[in-house]
Amino acid sequence: MTVFKTNSKTDSQTTNNLQRLTIKHLHEVASILAVAGSDVVKGLSQIDKTLPPRYFYSDRGSELFEQICELPEYYVTRTETSILQECATEIVKITGECELVELGSGSSTKTRILLDAYQQQNLPLRYLPVDVSGGMLENTAKQLLIDYPSLGIYALAGTYEFALQQLPAKQLATRAIAFIGSSLGNLNPQECQIFFSQITEALQPGEYFLLGVDLQKSKHILEAAYNDSQGVTAEFNLNMLEHLNRLYDGNFDTTQFEHWAFYNETENQIEMHLRSLKQQTVELHALNLQVDFAAGETIMTEISRKFNIEVLQEELKSHNLVTKKVWTDVNNWFGLFLCQLQ
Ligand code: TRP
Repeated sequence: MTVFKTNSKTDSQTTNNLQRLTIKHLHEVASILAVAGSDVVKGLSQIDKTLPPRYFYSDRGSELFEQICELPEYYVTRTETSILQECATEIVKITGECELVELGSGSSTKTRILLDAYQQQNLPLRYLPVDVSGGMLENTAKQLLIDYPSLGIYALAGTYEFALQQLPAKQLATRAIAFIGSSLGNLNPQECQIFFSQITEALQPGEYFLLGVDLQKSKHILEAAYNDSQGVTAEFNLNMLEHLNRLYDGNFDTTQFEHWAFYNETENQIEMHLRSLKQQTVELHALNLQVDFAAGETIMTEISRKFNIEVLQEELKSHNLVTKKVWTDVNNWFGLFLCQLQ
């Protein structure tokens, strides 16, 4: 079974006839994925088993994720949206004419609030979405071009790392990189440091970084958000095993694992695991991998760190990212930081 096509071609780029949309496909993605099976082997061979969160996002996984964002218990998306609605005009006043790079743009729903605000101030619009899903990127971009007749889009299909190294020349007065949805929380502290360095490398002094993060709050609110009553988060978590079965010719039986998410108050993070309901052995044939599970043993699939405004502000400062302003909601559940590179 061929699992991955390796792709040694150089990046491809297509610009449509109106010249308003360019999509750059970073083929490095293909080569990263070609060795990606090795991250599964590594994660499942450790004493404390882990799986890389990227395997959540099969087509079904992306669909389930969109559903999570709508759940009554999952306050994150709603809260960030309401903050953006409140502060978008102020952000525009601070940055002035500014092009937006967005990491993990997905359906770009929240970004529209910012585009609307720039448009209302009669400023030119340029958007550079970055997403690993090329299909999602293209569909979203085409719809945005219809809805914003003056918008120019340069989309990058690839990982943050590669995209940040390959941003095209700036066309407007300044640039902001947006990383919203509390995706920062899905990086561990070390990955977070590396990520901030990549941001500062990609920005020029005076340019902006817009960061949306989930804040520390009571355990029961957090745990409810990751253990919804409809079981969508559980399905999202278990779907990773289905995805691995398809990718690597595996035989995970999803009825023999269960979703388990809890708030670790020492680390200030939600930890999401899959727990084996019995002693069992699973095989991933394409990876030549056999994994033994004891009854009750778990695989950690994701962390979602919860932040403290002052601590994060200091950390950003140590990377020369100076916080111009932080907006929160009435409950102080979510924080939106606008930083400027010194
Ligand atoms: N970054 C968001 C969060 O940590 C969204 C997210 C990523 C998420 N993976 C998830 C939400 C898994 C629920 C379950 O909350």
